[in-house]
Amino acid sequence: MRNTMDREEMRLKLQMDLDAAKTQAERNRLGQFATPPSLADEIVQTAVTLLPKRSKIHFLDPGFGTGAFYSSLLRQVSPTRLQTARGFEIDPHYGDRAKSLWGPTALNLDLSDFTKATPPTHDTDKFNLVICNPPYVRHHHLTPSQKQHLRLVLNKHCTFDMNGLSGLYCYFLALSKAWMSPDGVAAWLIPSEFMDVNYGLKLKQFLLDRLTLLRIHRFDPAEIQFDDALVSSAVLFFRNAIPRGSATVQFSYGGTVLEPKTSDLISTTHLRDIAKWSALPATIRLEAERGDGARLADFFTIKRGLATGCNSFFVLTKEDAAKHAIPPQFLTPILPSPRDLHADEIEADRNGIPNLAKKLFLISCGLPESEIKAKYPAFYRYLETGKSAGVSRRYLCAHRDLWYCQEKRPSSPFLCTYMGRPSSKSVAPFRFILNHSRATAANVYLMLYPKPAVADAIERNPDATKRIWQALRTITGAMMTDEGRIYGGGLHKIEPKELARVSAQAVADVLLPYGNTGQRQTVFA
Ligand SMILES: C[S@@+](CC[C@H](N)C(=O)[O-])C[C@H]1O[C@@H](n2cnc3c(N)ncnc32)[C@H](O)[C@@H]1O
Repeated sequence: MRNTMDREEMRLKLQMDLDAAKTQAERNRLGQFATPPSLADEIVQTAVTLLPKRSKIHFLDPGFGTGAFYSSLLRQVSPTRLQTARGFEIDPHYGDRAKSLWGPTALNLDLSDFTKATPPTHDTDKFNLVICNPPYVRHHHLTPSQKQHLRLVLNKHCTFDMNGLSGLYCYFLALSKAWMSPDGVAAWLIPSEFMDVNYGLKLKQFLLDRLTLLRIHRFDPAEIQFDDALVSSAVLFFRNAIPRGSATVQFSYGGTVLEPKTSDLISTTHLRDIAKWSALPATIRLEAERGDGARLADFFTIKRGLATGCNSFFVLTKEDAAKHAIPPQFLTPILPSPRDLHADEIEADRNGIPNLAKKLFLISCGLPESEIKAKYPAFYRYLETGKSAGVSRRYLCAHRDLWYCQEKRPSSPFLCTYMGRPSSKSVAPFRFILNHSRATAANVYLMLYPKPAVADAIERNPDATKRIWQALRTITGAMMTDEGRIYGGGLHKIEPKELARVSAQAVADVLLPYGNTGQRQTVFA
């Protein structure tokens, strides 16, 4: 008997001859694009490792072609481990020749339509390793009677409905569940568009509700080493088990299946809320933003805190606000100036008010004076004192629609002081503050609002906030004063644009550490 390497060489030659004997249009009609051998090897290797060690293998490929996966499996597992192997191939052009090539092996190849075959009724006759590169036949190339048949069988075998715009591959994948033994493993090489488009919602629902999705690897079109048909492909790995509670799915991107460029674990709970799975792993964005050196602007929108127009009038202590009966809806907690802020981490009470000895509040109100006068006479009287003291005529106040209505500046989890002077206490002139409260800040601070990639990391793992803050604190005074301006007497100031240009490698490193496997993994599972 020929060895498996010889047979793979024969198969590749056969594949070339059979492909060459068909026109592109004919191959398109039945989605006849073979899996490159290196990719088949990686998919098989990854799928086999998901099976219990040394378990017997019952293999099925529902769209067999010449048998790229079967050939790879024969080369990777011992003949005693591979107990049964079955394939379906609708086209005798490929099927007949594949049958004679693999005849001497254990393969049972059906030259028939997989979607018309009846799945085994007993679990013992089912398959624990299904690997398939199904035909990518788009829905508009399926006849109405084909579609009707597919809907019917999917309903019969899996009690499930696909979206009417789904391509043949969606039905192949879902139908294969009926052929899988409990806890069996599957690997599917399919177009990645289902991750983002409307028709894909049903398939995603099937993957999340009816199977245990383990991993999705997407190739980077810019570095694709396969032919055009595979450019926007993804490889899915799943287990035939109803998911119990929330689990995590590995999303990897770029490189190869075995060595992805980037990878991230996403919880299935989170996954249900993400409309476009192609945005995953989120590290793709970070990777792109990182470029030749990350800057704070890659991770944060930076804004100067509020210019109130007159802090002594608009910023009140809790006691003064109570004395003037300012209604609570017109009061927002605000941080004291850095001089009065002794710790760099601000804790908050249940209402988001900073746990500081001196609690300060900012007055801002969007109601017209006439309404304030009618509804809140005490507050109105306080505003009148501002008018007679000339506050309403100050430049900033006079240029507002309502002189007492402040700009919107929501609280931010990170702040940086706007001015600083190196002291014996801290060599870095600027301080980074971690803010757990809902207090806003005046223009003695710069406010750092997380961009989506950072916000996403924080949302999924609240610990990330602290680690990002710690990373910010490692930014040295020298790095910052390179960007900021120095005034006489050693006083430093840094504007939002200058802070945005400061290197943020430390932050990038928190978001993109290298896992001990050597592949990139974000830590925020
Ligand atoms: C994308 S190719 C993959 C072939 C091979 N497994 C590989 O990976 O190289 C899909 C194969 O499925 C076959 N096919 C298409 N429709 C089918 C059906 N309804 N039942 C069984 N096979 C089908 C095609 O003829 C083609 O050989």
